[in-house]
Amino acid sequence: MASISVNLSLFITISTSLYATLSSPSVIEDLKNLHPPPDFNSTIYTNCFKIPSLRYCNSSSPMNLDEIFKSTIVASHLCNESKNPNCVESFPKVDLRNRPMIAPLYLSFTFFWKYCPLTILSIDLSNTSLKGNFPVDVLQCAQIRVLDLSRNELSGDVPVESFSPLTNLTVLNLSYNRFTESKISNAQFFKRFNSSSFLHSGLLPDQKKFRIKLVALLVGFPIFVILMIGWSAWLCLRRPDFLPRMLQKKHRFTPPMLRAATNGFSKKNLELKSEAVDIYKGTLRDGIKVRIEIYRDTISRENRRKLIEECKVLVRLRHKNIVQVLGWCNNRRLRAIVTEWVEGENVEMWLMGSNRPWKQRLRILMGVVEGVCYLEETWPEVGYDLRTNSVLLSDNLEPLISRFKVGDQNSSKRKIYKLGVFLLEIISNRRPQEEFEKGETGFIEHVRTHYPGNIQNLMDEKMKMTEVTFDQAKRAIGLGLMCTDQSNQQLSFSQIYDITSKVCNHKRSHPDRRKGNKQVQPR
Ligand SMILES: *[C@@H]1O[C@H](CO)[C@@H](O)[C@H](O)[C@H]1NC(C)=O
Ligand SMILES: *[C@@H]1O[C@H](CO)[C@@H](O)[C@H](O)[C@H]1NC(C)=O
Ligand SMILES: *[C@@H]1O[C@H](CO)[C@@H](O)[C@H](O)[C@H]1NC(C)=O
Ligand SMILES: *[C@@H]1O[C@H](CO)[C@@H](O)[C@H](O)[C@H]1NC(C)=O
Ligand SMILES: *[C@@H]1O[C@H](CO)[C@@H](O)[C@H](O)[C@H]1NC(C)=O
Ligand SMILES: *[C@@H]1O[C@H](CO)[C@@H](O)[C@H](O)[C@H]1NC(C)=O
Ligand SMILES: *[C@@H]1O[C@H](CO)[C@@H](O)[C@H](O)[C@H]1NC(C)=O
Repeated sequence: MASISVNLSLFITISTSLYATLSSPSVIEDLKNLHPPPDFNSTIYTNCFKIPSLRYCNSSSPMNLDEIFKSTIVASHLCNESKNPNCVESFPKVDLRNRPMIAPLYLSFTFFWKYCPLTILSIDLSNTSLKGNFPVDVLQCAQIRVLDLSRNELSGDVPVESFSPLTNLTVLNLSYNRFTESKISNAQFFKRFNSSSFLHSGLLPDQKKFRIKLVALLVGFPIFVILMIGWSAWLCLRRPDFLPRMLQKKHRFTPPMLRAATNGFSKKNLELKSEAVDIYKGTLRDGIKVRIEIYRDTISRENRRKLIEECKVLVRLRHKNIVQVLGWCNNRRLRAIVTEWVEGENVEMWLMGSNRPWKQRLRILMGVVEGVCYLEETWPEVGYDLRTNSVLLSDNLEPLISRFKVGDQNSSKRKIYKLGVFLLEIISNRRPQEEFEKGETGFIEHVRTHYPGNIQNLMDEKMKMTEVTFDQAKRAIGLGLMCTDQSNQQLSFSQIYDITSKVCNHKRSHPDRRKGNKQVQPR
């Protein structure tokens, strides 16, 4: 068993052969077994009388003799462990470097650090596997010149303020720890010691890490910008409806937008499928219900450019009898016109219902003529497809011309012919394509042979007639025949308007005919 010979003079100063021999297996056992001798009190008082600066002589706290005694025992062990040359005379250094088994134990004796011997000038606790917060107790040895806590696993904040009483501290090493990075406000502290005190301590931004961050920023930022631009471009090209409204091109629809609006052109949304046109019901991102007409025929590049020109005019048309065109899609793979959705049936379906009064038929006829005349005045070149199945009826039976034929411009002669057929269909409720061998031509021949002698044969059987309505119908059929007379057609749209108005007993409102025209500037 080792025996140490400790003269506590280094701690209690001079004196005493009191503990000339201190023999013990470990500091723990000594703390348990040894007790202050009877004259310890007087020894302490003598010391304080001689050297008042001794830490235990601080009069502001009452003396705890037991604690002071224990600290002398720890001191004697620590002095020995630290391989001081002469623990009887002096205790200049605490050196526990590379001793992870011992250092934490000595750090745990808080009473020792409280009475830290004035002779200690250097404390080395490097590479001792210290964990947790900065060991603040050590700083009570305010006289030290060297403090090495490097190569540990200390974390949290360094109590920078507590370093100011340590005026003699010139060598500090906190390198290789995991402290929390300190703020700029502690710059003074970092100036006091040079940077080799804080290598990889976590306290100062690591040059290498900083460089990596800088490089990451320099590389990352442009990539971010490129990605943003790419993403915006993608949005612009494919889903402009996700852009802020002010960045959206008005009236422009892209294939992905229409695909999204129609659930991927699903069968459920398909309203009508014909040779050249598919009509879908769709819902835009903002919830607006729309009707999407998709043209399936292929057209030349030149015609596609024309289509845009025409669509640009279409979206500006405003009339109570013309469906509102919201925009278009002109893509190599997809051409479409998007109009507002009108709930309700088309005229063909309406006519199939029972007992459609003459008055309502006239009203529809008048509305269609008004719409057609409006188109003729504002934009004669516009193509539209006037049929009983393409004119929709709103809730209050206002007809809406709903199908435009962009890139397909009929002559006005042809348009008047179509209007005539429409008129005759409304009165007779016959479907030329199905009921007559020669189609429309056959239908018109049929009407011609019964006019004017056999009008009753031409009328919709389901319609109740009076003398007045009969007369009106006769005049209307006359107008229809004039319109469809392709050999000798001299009617103008305004004449058709006038005649229809008269037939309908419509108030003549010639100058007002352009109502709804306000927002359209003729080209
Ligand atoms: C003093 O230190 C030496 C080696 O540093 C050790 O062998 C001895 O046991 C220590 N004495 C006591 C009493 O701790
Ligand atoms: C220690 O001695 C001082 C005077 O020498 C005395 O006032 C004090 O009461 C003593 N304390 C103890 C705990 O014996
Ligand atoms: C004495 O102790 C008080 C409180 O414990 C402390 O504030 C003061 O700094 C100490 N004085 C000396 C000289 O150590
Ligand atoms: C740290 O201490 C261990 C023993 O605890 C030793 O093996 C190792 O070499 C030391 N590291 C350094 C850098 O001194
Ligand atoms: C620093 O050292 C000087 C001279 O050795 C000494 O007088 C002074 O008390 C020391 N400062 C501290 C805070 O111990
Ligand atoms: C930092 O201080 C140490 C010791 O005080 C010295 O050896 C080293 O050269 C200094 N380094 C710098 C960069 O000043
Ligand atoms: C602190 O310790 C590290 C690692 O042991 C060493 O590289 C550095 O030079 C030391 N710094 C000072 C100021 O002693």
